[in-house]
Amino acid sequence: MRLVVLQTGLIALVWTSGALATPLVAEPIESRDLDIRQMLKCPDKYTSKNGLNFTTYCEKNNPWNDAMEPFQVGSMQECMERCSRYWGKGEGCFGVVWREDNYCWLRNSTTSTRNMVNDTGIHAALVENGNMNSLNEDCPADHLSTHTLDNGLGYTVHCGKVIGTFDICWQGYPSCNQSPFVGFYHAESLEECLQFCVKEHPLCRAVSYNPGLEIGFANCWPKTGFGNTLDTPPSSMGVLHSATITSMDRVDTNCPKEDKYTATGNKNFEIHCGQLNTVTNITLLHRQNITSCMDACATSDKGCVGVVFDSSMQGGYQNCYLQNTTSVVLDQAQATYAVLSGTSLPSSAPSGTGAPSGGGGNNNDDSSKAWIAGPVIGSVAGIVFIAGALLWWRKRKNAPAKQLDYMPAHAYSPYQGQMANMPPTELSGDHATEMAAGTENKAATKYAHNGTPKPAPQELPT
Ligand SMILES: *[C@@H]1O[C@H](CO)[C@@H](O)[C@H](O)[C@H]1NC(C)=O
Ligand SMILES: *[C@@H]1O[C@H](CO)[C@@H](O)[C@H](O)[C@H]1NC(C)=O
Ligand SMILES: *[C@@H]1O[C@H](CO)[C@@H](O)[C@H](O)[C@H]1NC(C)=O
Ligand SMILES: *[C@@H]1O[C@H](CO)[C@@H](O)[C@H](O)[C@H]1NC(C)=O
Ligand SMILES: *[C@@H]1O[C@H](CO)[C@@H](O)[C@H](O)[C@H]1NC(C)=O
Ligand SMILES: *[C@@H]1O[C@H](CO)[C@@H](O)[C@H](O)[C@H]1NC(C)=O
Repeated sequence: MRLVVLQTGLIALVWTSGALATPLVAEPIESRDLDIRQMLKCPDKYTSKNGLNFTTYCEKNNPWNDAMEPFQVGSMQECMERCSRYWGKGEGCFGVVWREDNYCWLRNSTTSTRNMVNDTGIHAALVENGNMNSLNEDCPADHLSTHTLDNGLGYTVHCGKVIGTFDICWQGYPSCNQSPFVGFYHAESLEECLQFCVKEHPLCRAVSYNPGLEIGFANCWPKTGFGNTLDTPPSSMGVLHSATITSMDRVDTNCPKEDKYTATGNKNFEIHCGQLNTVTNITLLHRQNITSCMDACATSDKGCVGVVFDSSMQGGYQNCYLQNTTSVVLDQAQATYAVLSGTSLPSSAPSGTGAPSGGGGNNNDDSSKAWIAGPVIGSVAGIVFIAGALLWWRKRKNAPAKQLDYMPAHAYSPYQGQMANMPPTELSGDHATEMAAGTENKAATKYAHNGTPKPAPQELPT
């Protein structure tokens, strides 16, 4: 595994330096390494993280039918990931071409194997047949009818409606990307889309679902809220249905009178109201009260020693966080921290941690408070995420300047076709997040941020 990582790094480094025209002297490459590199560069087949299947055509070019201008990503796999999240003008992505200098081209629905030609250093992939087919577009229930999920959540169906804003980069997303790669989840029904919503963090309140896949394979958009009236989508977005969560069970927000609790199996917990513990969660559950959350910890077989109970559910509907370690405990209204008696706590040092305690600054609006109110999931990941979110909000408020994570086209000579360079339609101008830079492949990001687009088109070897 380590070898694989190193190899990727080396490839990225070599290609990056090549592209920057300050070539590093690459070490002689052994043939064994070549095999590994070959395997990495172009996998036999690939399934994206949201479930889109690709067939690959290694050492082949598949020119024409650009869905958008090419951009840079660190691997063919990442190129296919982008394809699976692409929202084009009325359709998604149906294939990719990845060139080993890290350029990625997305193909529209006209693409096929017909134009494939042998070419070294270039690899094509096509979405497997049927994966981008339109799903059942009928509204699953009457407009404005109400329903309940098996966990008791009540929701209202809005047929033919879309929620135009309330987008964020959800914690369940593997990375935060800029438009047109913002969405992630693929669902095959409105209810499946809602199931993604229920498991999301922070709290998801609604979804918009596009069965026809006109907004791409990523056709399920969780929402942090919804307005009084929902919008009718433009025809380029096809049919959309939305569901708004309109009732949740009542969660007990009172701090227990006793600061001790004996849970199932005679396990004693010490309860600290208004506090949370910033460590790795082992399990996330929905619970109505702190006692049943502690019971869940007591009966867990994963070494649970403490819980954070988020009575506000601002961190997500799954509001009971089981933890297997303890760490610095922070103050946080609405949260209750309980720990098994006898578990040692490190001395707390809330000021130096860079953790959310500093987030209560005066220039935060309600939305940014929502980011910090929920318990932190995972020490490093959680803090990084929340710090990133706060930064993002501040940046967004102060400086609207956006960084593109892709660069203008290099001519795809000798097959240069007309590029569809229309900006893709967005649900709102709200999707783009500047967090992308932090999660991107380092080499590609570095290059992409390294200044202005290169003026000279990069010719392909002929
Ligand atoms: C795909 O791209 C080609 C070339 O840009 C264009 O002629 C074709 O109409 C596009 N197909 C669709 C379905 O947009
Ligand atoms: C393309 O490459 C394959 C395998 O390497 C080979 O069998 C085939 O003849 C090549 N096609 C052309 C047109 O060169
Ligand atoms: C991708 O392939 C897997 C395994 O064959 C299949 O279960 C899944 O449904 C496919 N995805 C799509 C979107 O069809
Ligand atoms: C902790 O929660 C995150 C976010 O929900 C989840 O992805 C991860 O799998 C959880 N960790 C463990 C060890 O279960
Ligand atoms: C605590 O929550 C559990 C489920 O989450 C519920 O079954 C139980 O009745 C609740 N107890 C009280 C006292 O509300
Ligand atoms: C806590 O759980 C995580 C994820 O399951 C695991 O990697 C870690 O080793 C566990 N820590 C302890 C102290 O058991």
